[in-house]
Amino acid sequence: MLPLTTALLLLVQAGAAPSPATQLRLTFHPDPDTLVAGFTSMGAAPPGATLVQSGPAPDALGAPSSGTSVVFGNQYCPNNSSRTSHAAPFPAPAGAVTYYRVSADGGATWSNVTAAHNPARGYPMSIALWGDMGVECGGVLPPQPGFAGGPCTAVPQIAADSAAGAHAWTAHFGDVAYNMDDRCGAKGDAFLDAAATYSASRPAVYGNGNHEGSGPLKPYTEFVQRLGFPQGALAKASGSSSVRWMSWAVGPVTFVSLDADAWIYPLVYPLLDEQYAWLQRALTAFNRAATPWLIVLNHRASYCTKSEDDECNSEAEAIRNGQLGVRAPLEPLLAKFGADLYFAGHTHHYERTWPVVRGAATQTNYVEPRGTVHVQSGIAGTGPGDEFTVPQQPWEAFRDTAYWPTYGRLTLLNATHARYEQLFNANGTVFDAFDLVNTQPAHGAPF
Ligand SMILES: *[C@@H]1O[C@H](CO)[C@@H](O)[C@H](O)[C@H]1NC(C)=O
Ligand SMILES: *[C@@H]1O[C@H](CO)[C@@H](O)[C@H](O)[C@H]1NC(C)=O
Ligand SMILES: *[C@@H]1O[C@H](CO)[C@@H](O)[C@H](O)[C@H]1NC(C)=O
Ligand SMILES: *[C@@H]1O[C@H](CO)[C@@H](O)[C@H](O)[C@H]1NC(C)=O
Ligand SMILES: *[C@@H]1O[C@H](CO)[C@@H](O)[C@H](O)[C@H]1NC(C)=O
Repeated sequence: MLPLTTALLLLVQAGAAPSPATQLRLTFHPDPDTLVAGFTSMGAAPPGATLVQSGPAPDALGAPSSGTSVVFGNQYCPNNSSRTSHAAPFPAPAGAVTYYRVSADGGATWSNVTAAHNPARGYPMSIALWGDMGVECGGVLPPQPGFAGGPCTAVPQIAADSAAGAHAWTAHFGDVAYNMDDRCGAKGDAFLDAAATYSASRPAVYGNGNHEGSGPLKPYTEFVQRLGFPQGALAKASGSSSVRWMSWAVGPVTFVSLDADAWIYPLVYPLLDEQYAWLQRALTAFNRAATPWLIVLNHRASYCTKSEDDECNSEAEAIRNGQLGVRAPLEPLLAKFGADLYFAGHTHHYERTWPVVRGAATQTNYVEPRGTVHVQSGIAGTGPGDEFTVPQQPWEAFRDTAYWPTYGRLTLLNATHARYEQLFNANGTVFDAFDLVNTQPAHGAPF
């Protein structure tokens, strides 16, 4: 830990004005009794400026300890506006509330003291999850025929759910803020400030979507530096060389988050083999006895329907069967290791499949599945909906042709029963739900 005086001295030497910590978001750490406070400050903070204090009560915070930071700019912005992304781990026993505050300027200013709820590592566990959500959607995009309207962004409802304890943590599987880098990153600032209404108090994990690509050269700066940086310890602990793909376990569930663009964009192809080799190692290390549930988050679907365009045809097939049918096919791994659920966004609507494998449904119910269930949930806050213009497929269980703005909640009840609910942005009530029952050894793997 850097002494406070040293940190302040660095600030004085840099001639920096105090720069408050904003956009508070907690995330997981490889140690279940530690959380990481992620946050952003404007401008370039000097090394040593990142601090966190925590304790069991608001008036019993311990001494400050240091975190790490990275300065990033936006090369597509005329003023190259720079920000600093911070990550500060602090002790937070699982299943308990820990109070914390952070500073981005060596202690010149502090965030409000906030309650951090580190989830208990057991059943039941509820996780709110969705793709494709920002806060400016409603004002920016006009509704189109078939779009149900209503509050475009789910942020206020997710904050209310979080305050009520309806979920323990959240996951946003890409196309965050839509787009983080718009207006030189100001759109990302607005989203993450709004999202702090839930992410400051319960862990939030972010995945990478195509809209994090940041311009024609695709440096993915806003994902790698801003969203991914505080997740670095988690990624590293899963053996990943990149914050763009990782796996992590929270009590009874193992999550895998992938960078779907590696299958789709030529500029990202070079990362595909490395990601795939990592995925094979991660899944081989996956311990079903310790974590019965295996869930994959990938921004783009490998089973979906929409229109005749590439997204749910050649692109979904490239992910499922591999590029040109050979390179890095995902489905054989989902089948071999028995992935229970696969979540994607990217197309702006909601649909779910029956358990599927090798292009066909294995059954038309969710009891003792012999395949992976795919949920397409990409309408939490982008609007308008992508219209379904192709017929419903035999393996497709449900599609929302009214395009209600909705988000998801997965509840793991025990090792064999889970409930998935799709919830209205407007009020958090259930729009669609299904119960997954899987009492098979190894959840039926291999499929
Ligand atoms: C933009 O800002 C980043 C981060 O401060 C810096 O590394 C980069 O050199 C800057 N680019 C230009 C062209 O000034
Ligand atoms: C950079 O430019 C953008 C867009 O004009 C503006 O919103 C932002 O405030 C500017 N940032 C700085 C640090 O001047
Ligand atoms: C801190 O708390 C005060 C009082 O509740 C509130 O007015 C202020 O907006 C909060 N600041 C931040 C950065 O959330
Ligand atoms: C798991 O939860 C389901 C739904 O609540 C219940 O019916 C079932 O008995 C539970 N199984 C065990 C082993 O507790
Ligand atoms: C919740 O919102 C949806 C969408 O606006 C609406 O159809 C439904 O009736 C509402 N339910 C309740 C209980 O308010």
